[in-house]
Amino acid sequence: MDQTILVTGGAGYIGSHVCKALSRHGFLPITIDNLSSGNETAVKWGPFEYSDINDSETVSSVIDRYAPDAVIHLAGSLDISESKTAPAQYYKNNVTGTLCLIDTMKKHDIDDIVLSSSAAVYGAPQSMQPLTESSALDPVNVYGRTKLMMEHAIRDYTNAYGMRVGALRYFNAAGADIDNEAGTAYKNDTHLIPLLMQAAAGQTDHIKLFGNDYNTRDGSAIRDYVHVTDIAEAHIKALQYMKNAKKSLTANLGSGCGYSVSEVINAARRITGHAIPAIEYPRRDGDPPMLVANARHAKETLGWIPQYSDLDTIITTAWAWKQKQTGTPALKSRKVA
Ligand code: UFG
Repeated sequence: MDQTILVTGGAGYIGSHVCKALSRHGFLPITIDNLSSGNETAVKWGPFEYSDINDSETVSSVIDRYAPDAVIHLAGSLDISESKTAPAQYYKNNVTGTLCLIDTMKKHDIDDIVLSSSAAVYGAPQSMQPLTESSALDPVNVYGRTKLMMEHAIRDYTNAYGMRVGALRYFNAAGADIDNEAGTAYKNDTHLIPLLMQAAAGQTDHIKLFGNDYNTRDGSAIRDYVHVTDIAEAHIKALQYMKNAKKSLTANLGSGCGYSVSEVINAARRITGHAIPAIEYPRRDGDPPMLVANARHAKETLGWIPQYSDLDTIITTAWAWKQKQTGTPALKSRKVA
């Protein structure tokens, strides 16, 4: 029988790609999701169970039924701006929910958890970049603080109770499944590449460029975009590492390349063939000027080698997914000259 893995947040963007990767590697993913931001239609590679991770009774009954060998924990709230105005939701979903989940795992003697963490734990780094796992941890927003608390809490549990954690710090997850079977599933996406795809598809008439006065090569903020399929693959490798080496790990997941917002906008124009007007706005609250990963630890420890994390593949796959969702034709009239 397939090894069974419980995936919280399996109906979300990263969750759907993780479930596909699990299935490809011979695991059976069991999705638990409260559909607050995911879609049930994104659950294609294993059973779906509706539950909030704070509902330990339902989570327990799902564990009783499927007897998972490990948990991949992706459920949570992730909008940095929203985290400032709705901290209660972020502490409940991210911190309390994680504590509830790990208590439930402990009761059922499940020892291994892969945790979705974030580059947001580094805050607005003053240190040299690219960032390693030992760079200073100093989140600058509520979202980042909840992610760091999750890491600390799980590490305390794993140290005390003989459990293991693979804390994966994603930089900017982007792109869509190479076979076009999964893609962004967020209902109100705030991320740059999905919003560029909306503009290219004619769903909006421009992109807002937040901040042109950063101390960067062109004044716009720099990020490390990493393909969601590469991120998904790292979860499988982390599971295998924890089982085989019987150790925990913390690892950055990034491509190691930084692109400015203007560079991403230009790449989206070139790849989609649409003009995508950009309008300059002030900096977005809580946005660091630059975040670029040193992912050597993931490469050396897990043997993780990103396959799809060049910017062109990221945007090409995101565009293919957007076209599939909208049936967008190539709008010749809006083509860049
Ligand atoms: N941006 C725009 N216009 C938009 C949307 C974004 O200019 O309409 C800019 C942002 O200001 C930022 C860059 O594009 O400079 C990337 O923004 P995203 O919203 O796509 O992603 P973030 O860098 O804000 O967020 C990512 C991850 C988070 C993580 C965070 C760490 O999605 O999980 O990096 O800062 F916490």
